[in-house]
Amino acid sequence: GDLFCSAEQVSLTVSLSPCLRQSDCALTVVENSEEGEGGAVGSEESQEEVTEVVQPSEQWKTLSPGQAVPAGSHVRLNLQTGQREVRLGEEQLKYWTEEHRCVGRGHLIHDVVCPLFISSSFRPMEELKKDMAQLDLLVETDVQIMRRLLEQFNNSSSTTEQRLKVLLELEYLVHQVDNAQSLCSLGGLPLVLQGLNSSDVRLQENSAFVLGSALSSNPAVQVQAVEGGALQMLLTALATAQPLRVKKKVLFAVAALLRHFPHAQLHFLSKGGFQVLTELFRADAGGVLRARIVTMLYDMISEKSGLDLVSDESHQERVRQYHQVPVEAELLEKGWCGLAPQLLQSTEHDHREKVGGALRALLAMAPTCWHVYRSDTSLLGSLRSLQEQYHDMVQSEMIIGEESSYYADILELVQALQVRMK
Ligand SMILES: *[C@@H]1O[C@H](CO)[C@@H](O)[C@H](O)[C@H]1NC(C)=O
Ligand SMILES: *[C@@H]1O[C@H](CO)[C@@H](O)[C@H](O)[C@H]1NC(C)=O
Ligand SMILES: *[C@@H]1O[C@H](CO)[C@@H](O)[C@H](O)[C@H]1NC(C)=O
Repeated sequence: GDLFCSAEQVSLTVSLSPCLRQSDCALTVVENSEEGEGGAVGSEESQEEVTEVVQPSEQWKTLSPGQAVPAGSHVRLNLQTGQREVRLGEEQLKYWTEEHRCVGRGHLIHDVVCPLFISSSFRPMEELKKDMAQLDLLVETDVQIMRRLLEQFNNSSSTTEQRLKVLLELEYLVHQVDNAQSLCSLGGLPLVLQGLNSSDVRLQENSAFVLGSALSSNPAVQVQAVEGGALQMLLTALATAQPLRVKKKVLFAVAALLRHFPHAQLHFLSKGGFQVLTELFRADAGGVLRARIVTMLYDMISEKSGLDLVSDESHQERVRQYHQVPVEAELLEKGWCGLAPQLLQSTEHDHREKVGGALRALLAMAPTCWHVYRSDTSLLGSLRSLQEQYHDMVQSEMIIGEESSYYADILELVQALQVRMK
């Protein structure tokens, strides 16, 4: 009765057999033509030959009977539809339906891909569940992978190379919101923060990268990071990190920590964050960091000044919190009204792409900075030459479509700034 699938349903049975070499391993899918419950005909399983090997892509693709996929693919079983779905796998078969992703099982087969012989057949639900439970033991969930990675990172007998590899794997995983939160609940945050203070710059760089990715658009992680002392660690790293590429990653993590988080912004300012940014800006003659720093300032200013645009029940609280962040006073005090316009003087090749961002930031800062701008002769000169240059571009009939609207946008920003400075 209830234990059996109805004739309309296709259920899946998964059986496992171990393989020793990776090359032996392939997922074979076979259709079972057996009739349903109480079926009169052919109670023996008949397995069809594999007729086709499907190359998985980045998108989930439904597998048809008789189709097989290469070892290392991600395969999931959808128990509701009975469909097997496949996509490219960076590791191996670790994605299954949510019901089969459970936390806390300790058996790992991260390094062995086993062949899974999946056949569509009509099986008692209990039997099906038993097979699935067996699979759970063999399929490593993301949480299990992260636990294993963190243990390896934390193990004093691990080498630097192993730790670097662990960080890169973590960085890949924490792009998923729930994985980033698992990083916290598994106690990984303090380990990664300590990595920022490592004497090995590669560990610093990769730790900052993991942190930045975990923090991006993830308020729960942002809160826990601040509670775990991330601001101070990041500020220290920002002030002391040496190679440029480490500074870049640390700045990425700082920006991700501060974004839409006035509480963190307030503490960043009160711990001298703008001073550190000022020193970075001045020292960054090559200009690689400059645009990123000014973008960060722009984000903070525009979050605060854009508050009126969104009105919901937490609006009042947001206004109150942003009100406490003294961005404007800090901009003035640390000399940003004079520094930021230097971005327009850049002679870099990618200057053109950065001009728009620089102009938008200057415009956002204008209410605070206009009296400084007005006496900045080199800013006036830069704007005048941009205006001539872009005016000509817009007039030119050689430029059409997107290009043309890009030039028109820049011209509009230049003119808006000139108006503010009159
Ligand atoms: C650390 O790694 C070594 C070598 O892989 C292993 O033998 C040891 O059990 C690990 N220690 C801990 C505390 O996990
Ligand atoms: C790291 O190791 C220490 C001691 O060896 C242990 O107390 C701590 O819980 C470990 N942390 C993680 C996240 O595994
Ligand atoms: C950073 O490392 C130094 C030197 O190894 C150590 O003295 C200091 O306590 C560390 N700081 C933090 C916050 O872990």
